[in-house]
Amino acid sequence: MPRKRLIAGNWKMHGSVEGSRALVAELTGSNPSVDAQMLICPPAPYLAAARDWVSGSHILLGGQNLSEHVGTGAYTGEHSGAMLEDLGCSHVIVGHSERRSYYHETDALVAAKFIAAQAAGLVPILCVGETLAEREAAATQAVVARQVGAVLDAAGVGAFASAVIAYEPVWAIGTGKTATPAQAQEVHASIRAMLVERDATIAASLLILYGGSMKPANAGELLAMEDIDGGLIGGASLDAAQFLDIFRAAAG
Ligand code: PGA
Repeated sequence: MPRKRLIAGNWKMHGSVEGSRALVAELTGSNPSVDAQMLICPPAPYLAAARDWVSGSHILLGGQNLSEHVGTGAYTGEHSGAMLEDLGCSHVIVGHSERRSYYHETDALVAAKFIAAQAAGLVPILCVGETLAEREAAATQAVVARQVGAVLDAAGVGAFASAVIAYEPVWAIGTGKTATPAQAQEVHASIRAMLVERDATIAASLLILYGGSMKPANAGELLAMEDIDGGLIGGASLDAAQFLDIFRAAAG
């Protein structure tokens, strides 16, 4: 079974109500006939409005983060997976490198968030990836294996039947430097191989996205690689024309 590609936009902390509405209007106004899924992850305060903007369209909605706590509670400033689900989200990003580095999210916390996302019926998009220093020390495979392994150990391989992994080399995020298709493919294949050892069927259907300066100019060659099943796009997702061009590249 071919894997249905996913092109996901991570807006990070960008935009305004009016600007976000206009961006979504451009996306919903154009529905390229591409057999792939389109997902946008606006800032949390805009999700309630975004649910109405995408209503009736092909666009899926996702969160950028969630609390590791399930249910309600005294966690000022946090929001739960159930709240995201309540707002019409289907997906949520967990373990983005910015969360890991600026907010000190450990592998254990990321695993707890992954589990909390699934408990709320959301598909977690688990982000993994090495820093430049780690790549230069030839530690890429080890770092990615540790990050994926922490979630595999905590959640079990079965959990990956309804999850997505995004390989995002930290040195490529927002820098304009992209991993070459061969560099990305090597890591994607190693991630899939880790899963194959535990469950070949789940491994074969798992979507593994690439993220890190994906643009219209490089999307085609990245998405042509065997184990690259889509993209997690930051900067270029803030521009409807660029995001749509990347989406069209998913047609192959
Ligand atoms: P970028 O961000 O496309 O701006 O490099 C990707 C991401 O951080 O998800």
